[in-house]
Amino acid sequence: MLDGRRYEVPSDLKTSAYITSSEYEKKYKESIENPDKFWNEQARNIEWIKPFTKVKNTSFEQGKIDIKWFEDGQLNISQNCLDRHLATKGDDIAIIWEGDSPSLSRQMTYKELHEQVCRFANVLKSQGIKKGDVVVIYMPMVPEAAVAMLACTRIGAIHSVIFGGFSPEAIAGRIIDSNAKLVITSDEGIRGGKIIPLKKNVDAALAKPEITTVEKVIVFERTGHHDAWHSERDIWWHEAVNAADPYCDYEVMDAESPLFILYTSGSTGKPKGVLHSTAGYLVYTTLTFKTVFNYQPKDIFWCTADVGWITGHSYLVYGPLSNGATIVMYEGIPSYPTPNRLSQIVDKYQVNILYTAPTAIRALMAQGDVVVENTHRNSLKLLGTVGEPINPQAWIWYHETIGNSRCPIVDTWWQTETGGFLITPLPGAHALKPGAAMKPFFGVQPALVDNEGNFIEGEGEGNLVIMDSWPSQARTLYGDHARFEEAYFATFKNTYFSGDAAKRDADGDIWITGRVDDVLNISGHRLGTAEVESALVAHPKIAEAAVIGVPHDIKGQAIYAYITLNAGEEADDALYLEVKNWVRNEIGAIATPDYIHATKGLPKTRSGKIMRRILRKIACDEADQLGDISTLADPSVVEKLISEYKCLL
Ligand code: WT7
Repeated sequence: MLDGRRYEVPSDLKTSAYITSSEYEKKYKESIENPDKFWNEQARNIEWIKPFTKVKNTSFEQGKIDIKWFEDGQLNISQNCLDRHLATKGDDIAIIWEGDSPSLSRQMTYKELHEQVCRFANVLKSQGIKKGDVVVIYMPMVPEAAVAMLACTRIGAIHSVIFGGFSPEAIAGRIIDSNAKLVITSDEGIRGGKIIPLKKNVDAALAKPEITTVEKVIVFERTGHHDAWHSERDIWWHEAVNAADPYCDYEVMDAESPLFILYTSGSTGKPKGVLHSTAGYLVYTTLTFKTVFNYQPKDIFWCTADVGWITGHSYLVYGPLSNGATIVMYEGIPSYPTPNRLSQIVDKYQVNILYTAPTAIRALMAQGDVVVENTHRNSLKLLGTVGEPINPQAWIWYHETIGNSRCPIVDTWWQTETGGFLITPLPGAHALKPGAAMKPFFGVQPALVDNEGNFIEGEGEGNLVIMDSWPSQARTLYGDHARFEEAYFATFKNTYFSGDAAKRDADGDIWITGRVDDVLNISGHRLGTAEVESALVAHPKIAEAAVIGVPHDIKGQAIYAYITLNAGEEADDALYLEVKNWVRNEIGAIATPDYIHATKGLPKTRSGKIMRRILRKIACDEADQLGDISTLADPSVVEKLISEYKCLL
C-alpha cells in the first residue's frame, strides 16, 4: 500500500538541521508549557525599534476573542526585510525573476530592492497615503509586486493584494469592503503566453459608482499595451519612481498595527477580509521559514505561489526576505512553453528548495517524464507542498521524479487565517509519511473533536481545532469582529476551528483529510459554494443554484453546479456556455463550473432546505449510497436527478 511507506530523516540532516528530533521534542514541550518564554526567545530573531515587555495576551473565550502578541513592542517590517541585511548582504541577490518567456529574467540585490522600496514608499506618500490607509495591489508576478507590498509596510499602509485572476466584480467587492484609497496594478500580465488585462479589469471595477474611495491608480508597465488612460487618476509607476527620492525612513509601527488584509472564501456570504498584524506575523513567518525549509545561507528558494495568496505573502515575500534569503519569483506556469519548464528553472538558478502545490505536481505527473527531460535537478535539497491534501501517489512521484529520491518533502498544513505553517514535518526531526502533515509546529496545539465537540484522543478522525493562539494568527476580519468570532470560534467553544477534518494515526501523526464546511478547494484555492451559488443566481435566467465539489484528477476538486431555470427558459449548450462565462466574469476563472446540471427541481426538506448531501452523492456517482431520503418534500426529484446525471456524462 502506497500510504504505508515511511521515509527516514536523511543522515546528514539528523545532526546538521536546525531542529533535530530530540530538539523538536524538547522545544515543542517548552513552547506549550511556557509560551511566554519560548516566544520571547524566538522574537529575538527579528529587530525591534522598541523591545516588548509583554509576550502573549490572548483570549479564545467566546464573546471575548482578543489576540495580542508582543503588544508593547515597536518595529517595522520593511526594515526587518531590507535595512537590517544591508551591511552584511547588501550585494546578495534578494529576488531572481524569471519571466513567462524563458528569455526574460532580472535580478535585484538587497541594496537595489531597498532603494526601489524606498522610492516607491515616497511615491505612495506623495499621493497622500498615510499610516492605516488601505492600498490595493492587483499585479502580475513581477518584483514590483513585492516592492509595492514592502513599500506599504514601510509607511504603515495596509495592503490588500488581490489575485490577478480575479474579475472586476471581485475587485470591486474587495475595494468597497476595505475603503481602499489607491490601487497599484500593471498594464497587463502574461501567464503561459496568455495576456491578462489587469488595467482594464481595474478600470471596469472603478467604473462602478459605489466605489468612491479610490483616488489614484499606479500602473506598472509590463507589456506596453493598455486601453484607456485616465490622466487625472492614472500614474505610470516608472515615471513616479524615477522622480522619487531614493531614501525613505521607515515608520515606527506598534506590534499590533494592521499589516495586511487578504480576502478568502468562507462557507457563507461574501469573501472575508482576513486581517493580519505586524509583529506576531513576522516572528512566526521568520521562524517557520527558516526551520521548516531548513534554509541555509545562500540557498536559492523557489515558491511557485502567486503573491495574491497567503503562501505568496508569508513564504515568497515576508518569511524569506526577513531571513535574508534569495528567492525565485516566476511569472508563468510550470509547463509553458515546454513541459519541462519547471525543471529547467530549477537547473537554471540551481534552486535548492522548491515549494509548490499538489495540483501542480499532479498536472506535471500526468504528462510523464517529459517534465524532467534534459534536466538533472541536482541542486534540490528539499521539497515542499501546500494547498490541499496530497495523495501518496503524487507525493512519491514528486519525491522520486522531481527530487531524484533524495529530498525530504515538507507537507505544510496552514490557512490564510493562520498566517504560517501550523502542522508540518521538520526535515531534520521527523520521518515522513506520504500524505501526512505529521506534527504541530512549536506553540501549536491541535486537537480533534467530534461534531458535539468531544475530544477524540489517540487514533481517530475528527474536526481539527487549535486550542490556543500562535503569534501569526489573524486578529479579526476587517471591520467585522463579530463575523470573525462566529466563523472560527463559535462552532467549538473556546477553540479555533479550522474548517478541516484530520485523522491521527497510531504514531500520533496527523493527516489532513479536507474541508468539512461548504468550502471547495479548487487547485489549492479556496472557494465558498455560497459565493458560486450567489454568482449563479444573479444570472437573469437562473432561479436556484446548488454547488457541490466533485473529485478531479488534477485540480483536486471541480465544481458541479445544479441550477433550475426561470419559467420559459430552456437549457441548451448555448446557455451552459453563457452560464460558465457569467461565473467567470463574476468571480474569476478558478470559479468556472466544470459541470452544469440544469434540472426542474432540487431535493428539499419539507421546510425548504436544499439537501446537499443528496446532491453530493449524485454528483460523485454514489447514488447507491443516498441514505435516508424520507425527509424530502418530493422524493421523486431524486430519480430524475440520477437519470439526468447519467445523461450528462
Ligand atoms: C485550506 C486553506 C495555506 C496556503 C494555501 C491555502 C487546505 C492547505 C494543506 C495541506 C491538506 C491543506 C486546507 C485549509 N490545505 N494546506 N498541506 N494539506 N490541506 O490557503 O486558501 O487559506 O486554504 O487549504 O483545507 O483549510 P487557504
